[in-house]
Amino acid sequence: MKDCLLIIEDEALLGNELARFFRKQHWDVSVAVDIKSARQFLNGQDVEPIVILSDMNLPDGNALDFLEQSGSGLPYAEWIFLTGYGSVTDSVRALRLGAYDFIEKPCELDRLHMLVEGAARSARAQRRLQQETSQHFSRYSLDALIGRSQKIQILRDMLKQLANVPFSSLVISGETGTGKGLVTRILHYSGNRASKPLVELNCAAIPKDLLESELFGYEAGAFTGAKKRHRGLLEQADTGTIFLDEIGELDLDLQGKLLKAVEELKFRRLGSESTVEVDVQIIAATNRDLLGKVKSGEFRQDLYHRLSVLNIHIPPLRERIEDLRDLVPQFVADCNIKTGKNIKTIPDSVWDQLESYDWPGNIRELHNIVERCVLLADSEVFPAQWLQLPNKNVAAAVVANDGMFIPLDGSLSLQDMEKVIIQEALSRANNNVTGAARLLRATRETMRYRVQKYHLKYDQD
Ligand SMILES: Nc1ncnc2c1ncn2[C@@H]1O[C@H](COP(=O)(O)OP(=O)(O)OP(=O)(O)O)[C@@H](O)[C@H]1O
Ligand SMILES: [Mg+2]
Repeated sequence: MKDCLLIIEDEALLGNELARFFRKQHWDVSVAVDIKSARQFLNGQDVEPIVILSDMNLPDGNALDFLEQSGSGLPYAEWIFLTGYGSVTDSVRALRLGAYDFIEKPCELDRLHMLVEGAARSARAQRRLQQETSQHFSRYSLDALIGRSQKIQILRDMLKQLANVPFSSLVISGETGTGKGLVTRILHYSGNRASKPLVELNCAAIPKDLLESELFGYEAGAFTGAKKRHRGLLEQADTGTIFLDEIGELDLDLQGKLLKAVEELKFRRLGSESTVEVDVQIIAATNRDLLGKVKSGEFRQDLYHRLSVLNIHIPPLRERIEDLRDLVPQFVADCNIKTGKNIKTIPDSVWDQLESYDWPGNIRELHNIVERCVLLADSEVFPAQWLQLPNKNVAAAVVANDGMFIPLDGSLSLQDMEKVIIQEALSRANNNVTGAARLLRATRETMRYRVQKYHLKYDQD
């Protein structure tokens, strides 16, 4: 399909010459002789110009006023203005209004051609960006939060209200896999910062000594290895949202620096003399009891109060089991598409198992299990044998003195055994991961990984 160029020019001779020239260059050209007809073109169904080439002064008004009024709701187009000699103020205003460029009359056709091609490239890139953003809009609309339970309905209502409020910061709490990341995206993409960046930082995933430079950025030479200036995540999120996941993992020193930056909305890059101002909305998430951490002195009270202007709690799946009836069919449908399977029926025995399990890994665990089952299905029926929900009855293992008795009668899977051993070691080490690791002669990292894998309770050390 040819790209469409709209020429707005009241001098018929010039308008026709330009139209002829660009038609030869394979453009689909429409000519409007005044603002009224240009408006008709733009509002009609047939013409969707990617570039608009316009004279400044038209019989029924100034084209810049027209540019200012039009735009929103239409697919992105770049504007190039044809200006009379010496109309500097108009040209400046044109650029301020976002025009691609202006060119003085009489203009060389070759130069104009280059300009129009450049504008078309730019408009195409903008349209791609718009399209991606709108895909995000629909992917992360309120409907993306599935669930019929009253708790989820209340949450959806809350998110709907928040989308219209320019909040400065907010804390989302909830166990692992309950949907904190999803809720963050919904908040961002349904709010007024939707077309601006959403930048994520998982405070638990980055070594402590790198967190500061990730957040605030640095100047060249700020420390060994800092070769070039680096814009930190706060700066990258300017005008948009920064998502600080697992905020409870920030150490106290950095909490202080973050508080200062959040309060003043400015900070310094590492090694810099000057300050950078930012306008960011903060969403912080935690799967731990942040208030408990405040009480035990591990999290600054002032930062907690600054961030938790608003609090959203996402209840665990076991407290809203009825949501399974919406979540499972949706996940099955998604996985059917992804894997080319065609599961149509979910037997009652499967529902029974799903509804009696307590879902420590919440929706993420559910999603993974559904995905596995769909992948391994060999008919149109959801395969119960691949559910493999962990045995709830791990109490079968018996603790005795320094050791423990583990039955080999099939009541415990190998995974269950590993879980009970680790659980027991943790309890003997007063929930301390390092202590438990010592008991089992494992490294702290291995232990931490397994403790998280089995969703066991432990104390931070
Ligand atoms: N109510 C829901 N409806 C549909 N999908 C959901 C819902 N809640 C969570 N999910 C999906 O479950 C998965 C896990 O959710 P998410 O990553 O947001 O959890 P989380 O709370 O951020 O977990 P973690 O604490 O481990 O980071 C994602 O794929 C998410 O899209
Ligand atoms: Mg998450």
